[in-house]
Amino acid sequence: MRLDHIAYRVQDRDATVEYLENVLKYTQAEEFEITFSDNSKAMCVAMTPPEKSHSSQKFSVDFPAVGPTVTSYHLAPEIFISQGSKGSIVDTWVKETGGGIHHLAYSVQDIDAKVKEFRSLGVRFLSDEIIDCPEDNLRQIFTEPQTLLGGIIIELIERGDKGFCKGSVKNLMESTSTESKNKDGHEGMERPRL
Ligand SMILES: [Fe+2]
Repeated sequence: MRLDHIAYRVQDRDATVEYLENVLKYTQAEEFEITFSDNSKAMCVAMTPPEKSHSSQKFSVDFPAVGPTVTSYHLAPEIFISQGSKGSIVDTWVKETGGGIHHLAYSVQDIDAKVKEFRSLGVRFLSDEIIDCPEDNLRQIFTEPQTLLGGIIIELIERGDKGFCKGSVKNLMESTSTESKNKDGHEGMERPRL
């Protein structure tokens, strides 16, 4: 399991992108707009870290269990930024919280097994089913906001062959709506950072 991406919901997407380009040397990878069921929108930008833009670049890593090793596997996570139109799920969240990290996504080899394991540990999810991308084998799901982590959501992601999937982003974002309910009828309003 590794940190795949950090998702920020922000007030000013362009300023955030510029900041990440200048300070952390991230590069804009893809940009797209989501239209929700209520016709509100979210503008999304995926950014890749400098290490990933040079995939052949090797660097040394010291793993305590095995000692120093050389790898080309990038360690810095991607960053996913979204800014919502007025009244949208994203905009409402930013207004309520001041914006910032919305979720941390961990990539897993077997998302079905990991969801089952999380559920056995009492972790609840915002959707009953794992969200599948129709055009790729990308699979994702959000936990409920984790109180012990300050209300951050954990995303589990099993990567496909492509990047982010527009339809999946829409479904994931809509699963964070305060109107959503879990299977047991648990009301979303108990989730402080939504
Ligand atoms: Fe995500």
